Amino acid sequence: MPSDNHEYVLVTGDAGAARLALLHDTYGTNTESLLRELGLTAGMRAADLGCGTGTVSRWMASIVGPSGEVVGADVSADQLEVAAREAARLGLPQLRHVQASVYDTGLPRDHFDLVYCRFLLCHVGDPAAGVREMRSMLRPGGVLLCEDVDVGSVECDPPSPRYDRMRDIMLALGRFRGVDYCLGPRLHRVFREAGLANTQVRIDQPVLSRGEPKRFWEYTFLEAAPAMLRAGLTDESELRELAAEMARVAKDESVMVAQAKKVQVWARR
Ligand SMILES: C[S@@+](CC[C@H](N)C(=O)[O-])C[C@H]1O[C@@H](n2cnc3c(N)ncnc32)[C@H](O)[C@@H]1O
Repeated sequence: MPSDNHEYVLVTGDAGAARLALLHDTYGTNTESLLRELGLTAGMRAADLGCGTGTVSRWMASIVGPSGEVVGADVSADQLEVAAREAARLGLPQLRHVQASVYDTGLPRDHFDLVYCRFLLCHVGDPAAGVREMRSMLRPGGVLLCEDVDVGSVECDPPSPRYDRMRDIMLALGRFRGVDYCLGPRLHRVFREAGLANTQVRIDQPVLSRGEPKRFWEYTFLEAAPAMLRAGLTDESELRELAAEMARVAKDESVMVAQAKKVQVWARR
């Protein structure tokens, strides 16, 4: 089994919750509409792997209702603490959380109607092993939906060489860690390798001139900055310049920022 020593470089727990809420503001609308289109409904059994602070798990639990079941799983105890606290606050007994890696969830085989993950597989060294595990959790006819990114598609217009540089350092960090922050476009091939042949694909790329969602990747890159420094990919002085440029771009409504493409790949077992 693959190991989990591909350190997750973004912030977890309460300190990272606002960025994950912004992730949902930026990309959540068509996550929810595709999950509905794939049949998520009252009484279903669903799992959300790499659930983070649980934004999507809670929404799924509201759809499946008290007669359904949702499991949110993540390797990070800090993420799960926030997720469980929010689920309790909202009163969602149909939602439970488990601390587990996507490589080996310990969750039942041949059980779930729907298994889902968002922006998880780009953080793991062996995404095919993760897809195989998620496939094995599905009942025959159940559906696997994975959403992942193409960080290489982040860009500004008019162009900003410093924004591009920040994106490229993020991509170099992925290579350094043995993960692929541009996994999205080839994710359909990973499905095939994992024995899911009947894949379908959609792409969403918000392009924004204003508002907090315009800053989602700026905040993501800044969360990864300590790992970039540890890897020797940049230095404090360059990071200050890059952060100042991203803040300038955020304020200037004449600059459009293309957020990373989100690629949705799904298939039935
Ligand atoms: C970018 S966050 C996305 C969270 C959530 N899916 C969302 O869209 O809001 C990625 C999550 O994957 C988790 N993670 C990283 N490696 C993992 C692994 N091997 N197994 C399960 N979760 C993992 C991290 O702890 C983090 O919560």
